[in-house]
Amino acid sequence: MTVRWRAPGRVNLIGEHTDYNAGLALPFAIEQGCTATVSVAQHGFTVTSAQNGEQVTVDDLHELPDGWVRYALGPAAVLASRGVDVPPLRVEIDSDVPLGAGLSSSAAVVCSVTTALDDLLGLDLSPDDLLAVSRAAENDVVGAPTGGLDQLASLRCEAGQVLRCDFADFSTELVPFDPAAHGLTVLVVDTRVEHGHAGGEYAARRHACEQAATRLGLGSLREVTDLPAALVALDRPEDGELRRCTRHVATENARVQEVVELLRAGDVPRIGPLLSASHASLRDDFRVTVPELDLAAATLEEAGALGARMTGGGFGGCVIALVPVDRVDAAVRAVERAFAGAGHRAPVSFTARPSAGASRLDA
Ligand code: GLA
Repeated sequence: MTVRWRAPGRVNLIGEHTDYNAGLALPFAIEQGCTATVSVAQHGFTVTSAQNGEQVTVDDLHELPDGWVRYALGPAAVLASRGVDVPPLRVEIDSDVPLGAGLSSSAAVVCSVTTALDDLLGLDLSPDDLLAVSRAAENDVVGAPTGGLDQLASLRCEAGQVLRCDFADFSTELVPFDPAAHGLTVLVVDTRVEHGHAGGEYAARRHACEQAATRLGLGSLREVTDLPAALVALDRPEDGELRRCTRHVATENARVQEVVELLRAGDVPRIGPLLSASHASLRDDFRVTVPELDLAAATLEEAGALGARMTGGGFGGCVIALVPVDRVDAAVRAVERAFAGAGHRAPVSFTARPSAGASRLDA
């Protein structure tokens, strides 16, 4: 038997670096995704990638080579370590999510394989277990200390909706999001500055947030209820970073909740300023932007976007902007001109529609 599952990448509309602080985020799935075609084999575990043309066979799921094979076989390794009798497998990966662009190309691979294995092996995993296996593949097998946003979005998003994620308990709720009804679209501008999660900056921010929560006597920064008092309590001269991280997380959670309320009221245009405020907070307080992200966001606003912000982990990747449909072409050209003028690599732009989460395809 052969099964095929497709899991999408995502953009995060708002709620950045909140997931590992037990906070709120609001992603939606994009049309680009990864298709995993999985079948039982005779011997070993063979993976192929349509993108790099490689084929690798390993004998032991607990001795995986570094690199893309860890994403492709991570879910099988996690299942095996949880006592599932995983047979020899053939896993084919084919993804059109741009790599390293902050659009969750890794979650797309991991979630497509997890859902395919669940189906192939008849495991009947619960939604929580599918999430746990996908997260463990990325956190434990790959070793990227990400917070769960990407896998949750890839597994649970639905077309025409954003997914309100509450990382206090990993509960989710769909909220309708129809920019087209307001003559608007979400434009994604990939700066083509590649980021890497296993890299140190992401882990460093995460560590600073944990330190701040500990200093405040809290389980997580989600529990900050009185921000001015929290900032006063972080009073050592060397606490600047902890104060800035705390302010970003607390204000970002509030912005997510405001966006949810505006969307529930059908008021899409008014979310624009909140997107821009999120970018400013990520630039000035959390400090995860790079010049290309700041230039793209500022240029898109000048070109008529109602709001613009970096999406994903930062240090590269994409900016999203809420743009009137009739100004998209001009906005794209404006960013291209600004990037050329600044000597940056040419960006790649596309519009994104809230799309479906992981689903089975005909084999
Ligand atoms: C990356 C991580 C997510 C999340 C975002 C920032 O995409 O994979 O878990 O932390 O950064 O919001």
